[in-house]
Amino acid sequence: MTGTGTGVGKTVVAAVIAHTLAEEGKRVAVFKPAVTGLDDYAADGPQSEPIGRFEAHRPDHVVLREAARSSQGDEEVAPYRYGPPMSPHLAAELAGEQISREHLLDAARTAATGADALVCEGVGGLLVPLIPTYLVRDLAADLALPLVIAAAPGLGTINHTLLTIEAARSAGLNVEAVVLTPWPRIPSPVEESNRQTIATLGEIEIETLPPLDLAGPQSWPRLRSCAGAEVSSGKVE
Ligand SMILES: Nc1ncnc2c1ncn2[C@@H]1O[C@H](COP(=O)(O)OP(=O)(O)OP(=O)(O)O)[C@@H](O)[C@H]1O
Ligand SMILES: [Mg+2]
Repeated sequence: MTGTGTGVGKTVVAAVIAHTLAEEGKRVAVFKPAVTGLDDYAADGPQSEPIGRFEAHRPDHVVLREAARSSQGDEEVAPYRYGPPMSPHLAAELAGEQISREHLLDAARTAATGADALVCEGVGGLLVPLIPTYLVRDLAADLALPLVIAAAPGLGTINHTLLTIEAARSAGLNVEAVVLTPWPRIPSPVEESNRQTIATLGEIEIETLPPLDLAGPQSWPRLRSCAGAEVSSGKVE
């Protein structure tokens, strides 16, 4: 699960995919190579509050784990976790450490072991560095993960989304779908046009996700792009 940038709905879409697969009876594992910005949550209370506190009180790895009904520990979902809200490569440097490519690959493969599906959320957009010379895109390529791209429906999204598709394909990555989120109940002509334009110019399937009640997973719709998460068809290499 990648996106056109930060705050575009990656966790929402990944949670919907994980929840749908779990509802189907699949064993779902989740993975996020690095979580930053944990300082933003610390003052807001315990992280075990119900899912209604979605974005304000719960870091991504906690939201993903709950949506998947997984029993993975924090370390297994997100091997690197930092307080400051910044790119992982910088957060690691400020913490006096370096993220290890080998450890990330081991952790992702371990998470996928024994699972029917792996839902992996990136960090920011596709070209965010995990290590100064190793990008989110490199991790996706090393693991041979099919991509779903979360993008906003409105003005500016054509350029951001097509750039992301191009960056993915130029590295040999397979883009399963773009998910426009939150897709308004009554889309404007611009939003409708954006959907068509991205589909045509990006030669890509577009899905839309309506504004969800984030506190009510039972009301969430199914996304067709769930299929890409299945470990049997998309083996984590
Ligand atoms: N379909 C939707 N229904 C309700 N809220 C949505 C929807 N899509 C996106 N949002 C809202 O958009 C915001 C950003 O979503 P989200 O946290 O999933 O982004 P992200 O790309 O994972 O961000 P980050 O880069 O911090 O990981 C949240 O406040 C979320 O509530
Ligand atoms: Mg997120």
